[in-house]
Amino acid sequence: MTGEPPLTLRVNGEERTVPEVAADTRLLDLLRWRLGLKGTKEGCRTGGCGACTVLVNGESVLSCLTLAREMERQEVTTVEGLTGTPEAEAVQQAFAEAGAVQCGYCTPGFVLALVSLRREHGASPPDLPTLANELGGNLCRCTGYYAIVRALADLLGVPVTSELPKSTFTVEPGGSP
Ligand code: FES
Ligand code: FES
Repeated sequence: MTGEPPLTLRVNGEERTVPEVAADTRLLDLLRWRLGLKGTKEGCRTGGCGACTVLVNGESVLSCLTLAREMERQEVTTVEGLTGTPEAEAVQQAFAEAGAVQCGYCTPGFVLALVSLRREHGASPPDLPTLANELGGNLCRCTGYYAIVRALADLLGVPVTSELPKSTFTVEPGGSP
C-alpha cells in the first residue's frame, strides 16, 4: 500500500477506477501498465514524436507529458477505443490505400492525430501543406511521411495536385525523431 488515492476516469467509453495512482504517474504509464492498453506507444518521452497521442475529451494530447491525476472524471480515448468504429475503418482504409504503414510503431499516434484533424477540418479542410504541417508533431522513421499525408488528404477529400516540398515537414522525410 502506498497511501496514494484512487483515480476515476472514463477510458474508451467505460468508467475505470485505478487504485493508488501516484501524483507523478504519467497518463501514458497509467494506460499501458495499469490498464493494459498497449496501443499507446512510448517513443521520445519528451513530447517530440507523437507516438503516445491519445484523445482527451476529443482533443489530441501527448500522454507522456500529461499527469494521470489530471484525468480525474475526464474522457480518454486510445486507439483501442476506436476499434471497429466507422472513423477507424475510414483511417485504416486510407492508410492501406496510401501505403502509410511500415513497422507500425507510429501508427496508433497517427491514427489518433488523423481522427482529431478529420473532426476538426471535416467540413472545410485546409490545403495539403497546411494539413502536413498540422501533423508535424507526429514523427515516423519509416514511411517518409508522404503516404501518411496522402492518407489524410484522402480522408478529407483534399486534392493532391503536386509533390509536397520537403520543407513541409518538421524533420526531413525518413529522418530520425
Ligand atoms: S513519447 Fe510522447 S511525444 Fe514522444
Ligand atoms: S511506420 Fe515505422 S515509425 Fe512510422
